[in-house]
Amino acid sequence: MAYLETAAQFYREVAQTPEVGLCCVQSTPLQLPGLKIPCKMQEMNYGCGTTVHPTELSSQPTVLYVGVGGGLEALQFAYFSRRPGGVIAIEPVAAMREAATRNLEIAATENPWFDTSFVEIKAGDAFNLPVADAAVDIVAQNCLFNIFEPEDLTRALLEAYRVLKPGGRLQMSDPIATRAIPEHLRQDEQLRAMCLSGALTYDEYTERIINAGFGQIEIRARRPYRLLDSQTYKLEENLLLESLDSVAFKVAIPEDGACVFTGKTAIYAGTESLFDDSAGHLLQRGIPAAVCDKTAAKFAALKPGEIIITDSTWHYSGGGCC
Ligand SMILES: C[S@@+](CC[C@H](N)C(=O)[O-])C[C@H]1O[C@@H](n2cnc3c(N)ncnc32)[C@H](O)[C@@H]1O
Repeated sequence: MAYLETAAQFYREVAQTPEVGLCCVQSTPLQLPGLKIPCKMQEMNYGCGTTVHPTELSSQPTVLYVGVGGGLEALQFAYFSRRPGGVIAIEPVAAMREAATRNLEIAATENPWFDTSFVEIKAGDAFNLPVADAAVDIVAQNCLFNIFEPEDLTRALLEAYRVLKPGGRLQMSDPIATRAIPEHLRQDEQLRAMCLSGALTYDEYTERIINAGFGQIEIRARRPYRLLDSQTYKLEENLLLESLDSVAFKVAIPEDGACVFTGKTAIYAGTESLFDDSAGHLLQRGIPAAVCDKTAAKFAALKPGEIIITDSTWHYSGGGCC
């Protein structure tokens, strides 16, 4: 797979000479009390969103972080795990492992709570994770899986599924494309390595996650990311890339399909005080209840006008039932 070698060469270069703004995004890096992120680490923020969701990290999870980059998110996860080996970071590019190690050593001098043993950096790649089956609570990757060809993306998703404990979570941030990226760009290995031409559409991306076995997906953020303008990229029309932050759960896929939460709510506006669908959804009159897209579609068909479905916010933060 020649394109993976092109990517490795690219990340060797940006490990040695940080490329500030390679993946810069429309959100402020996560600040936490008592956490100081070294400047060098910030310069090497090669993510396109965030995979660190603070409200769900209180149980000191074991995190497997794939594609460590400069170590920024590994440090953020370590802030919560705070124990030796709490974060295992996998990285195939030696220069990147060395850069992350140096950055984490600086972090240890600037953060009294942090010890470098909290992040164990290992050689390896997304297709052969050097950990046992069902060993970790969280697998995280930021702006990496989008560079994979679709079949390789599936391999990486299956590998993440393998190492997660039952109920474990795959926390990802990746660019997605608002329409299919034309072949001449998809074949451009350098653009792919730069996270600009490997992106799938939202439907293709979520379908591959579900096909790997994940029974529930939550969309945590969806934002504009980059414009592939028609002139530079030889396109008939401009093509917008978005960044998508998601959390996929290793739970069984329900018989009627996976639950994907995108921030829709159902509001019962009928004449009773409650609506009970006898399938686990209880709607109190006038009070929005978070529902997955599948349930939203069912309600819209079942009770048009009587149950109002609000639009996807693309910023789901819990409270759903499905
Ligand atoms: C776009 S950077 C993202 C780095 C980091 N996640 C961040 O948010 O700053 C992609 C990272 O994945 C690494 N990488 C490249 N190919 C990989 C593979 N096949 N498996 C695991 N990591 C890979 C790169 O060397 C680089 O560190």
